[in-house]
Amino acid sequence: MGAAASEFVVVANRLPVDLERLPDGTTRWKRSPGGLVTALEPILRGNSGAWVGWPGVADTALEPSVEDGIDMHPVALSAQEVADYYEGFSNATLWPLYHDVIVRPEYRREWWDAYVEVNRRFAEETAKAAAEGATVWIQDYQLQLVPKMLRMLRPDLTIGFFLHIPFPPVELFMQMPWRTEIVEGLLGADLIGFHLPGGAENFLFLARRLLGHQTSRGTVGVRSRLGVVQVGFRTVRVGAFPISIASGSLDELSRRKSVRDRAKQIRRELGNPKKVMLGVDRLDYTKGIDVRLDALHELIAEGRVDPAETVMVQLATPSRERVESYVQMRGEIEMTVSRINGEYAEVGRPVVHYIHRPIPREELIAFFVAADVMLVTPLRDGMNLVAKEYVACRSDLGGALVLSEFTGAAAELRQAFLCNPHDLEDVKDKMEAALDQPREDGRRHMRAMRRQVLTHDVDRWAKAFLTALARDSVAGAALMPA
Ligand code: ADP
Ligand code: G6P
Repeated sequence: MGAAASEFVVVANRLPVDLERLPDGTTRWKRSPGGLVTALEPILRGNSGAWVGWPGVADTALEPSVEDGIDMHPVALSAQEVADYYEGFSNATLWPLYHDVIVRPEYRREWWDAYVEVNRRFAEETAKAAAEGATVWIQDYQLQLVPKMLRMLRPDLTIGFFLHIPFPPVELFMQMPWRTEIVEGLLGADLIGFHLPGGAENFLFLARRLLGHQTSRGTVGVRSRLGVVQVGFRTVRVGAFPISIASGSLDELSRRKSVRDRAKQIRRELGNPKKVMLGVDRLDYTKGIDVRLDALHELIAEGRVDPAETVMVQLATPSRERVESYVQMRGEIEMTVSRINGEYAEVGRPVVHYIHRPIPREELIAFFVAADVMLVTPLRDGMNLVAKEYVACRSDLGGALVLSEFTGAAAELRQAFLCNPHDLEDVKDKMEAALDQPREDGRRHMRAMRRQVLTHDVDRWAKAFLTALARDSVAGAALMPA
């Protein structure tokens, strides 16, 4: 353990920063992609804790160091482990299985073996980084075996686990050849958190069905009414904790003159169209980027949207670029963008502006401020922080949010234009309604959504989880026989 051991340790597949190798051979850190890092980074900075994770490049052994006030503990992965544990089991097995099998999950034994091996390494690194009696918070689907492995190494620790993606319906989870090991792995934690009560309830059912444990049977509440699983002498609690963003600081940044000026400039650069629609995502097949492009294409073809007056901007961060389903989705999206522009653009006036690069934070906020309609159309998404970021940036009460019902955010942002991404007519109707929304209605909807996002920020999320984790009694939990 040593003197530098920490009282609070976050464990995630990625460190909050990725190591970047520059052409001249030097290296620098850049922000890691995705919602997990967006949410957790501000929490850890405020808690002076440690972060155990992979630095994002293969075959790179790094010593622990302090970056931006966070005590970083890099876990090295070989190129083979990146292929088998990260691209394979995490992102070609678990990711599609937990996202409603939008793409068919592949079950390969060598990927599973690598997943076990790498989870063991994370558990060992964490055991070294954590002080006696420390609190350890393990994150996401890449590390579901770490809770049990870590408990065996360090029974003195308090261990929490949070799943950032959906927990699937029981019928789908049962496909997993290693389903028992995964449920057992998670049950090493003292508290297991999901975004939604439905995920927590699915998990309780599986703990009964697959492992024969006694569990509570009542419904799980949001930040309340935890479920319980009796694992021998230990009681594991299970709850719903919808994640959020640092909404206050985003609100503050979006009010800055520099950002507002940049938003106006973006509209000018787009040719001062009447309406700007915006999509902001990792380029992932779960996000429904293809759905919104298809909807736009048809709306223009039917004369319901005028391409001379309306533009769409799609900002897509590159993601998991060596996984086959991502390569395919990128090809399809890029073909549809070209098709729409081929049919409806004028020289110097594209209808769809597509950028396949990460956008700096301040620039992204300016895009949120500039957009009349935000398009968030995933086929399945655990939460979707982009929807909340858009709302937090609209202190002017302008803008409209088209939001898929299949996101966790839809449970909280009820005043959005909610749509079923599997029903293209519905998506088109909601996009059209959002474009034509009367100003006063829009202000009313945005005010209500802002109240939700600004009062339920990421600090509140972390506090709710960590307070529940610190509480060791299970008052009121009713155990039922298996
Ligand atoms: P996921 O975690 O699946 O990527 P979320 O919507 O929950 O999805 O979180 C995505 C995070 O990544 C948000 O903070 C969002 O602002 C950021 N992000 C998404 N696309 C881009 C982009 N093109 N450039 C910069 N940041 C992006
Ligand atoms: C989602 C996942 C995270 C992941 C992020 C980026 O937010 O829940 O665990 O880190 O996507 O994906 P990547 O594969 O690049 O880490």
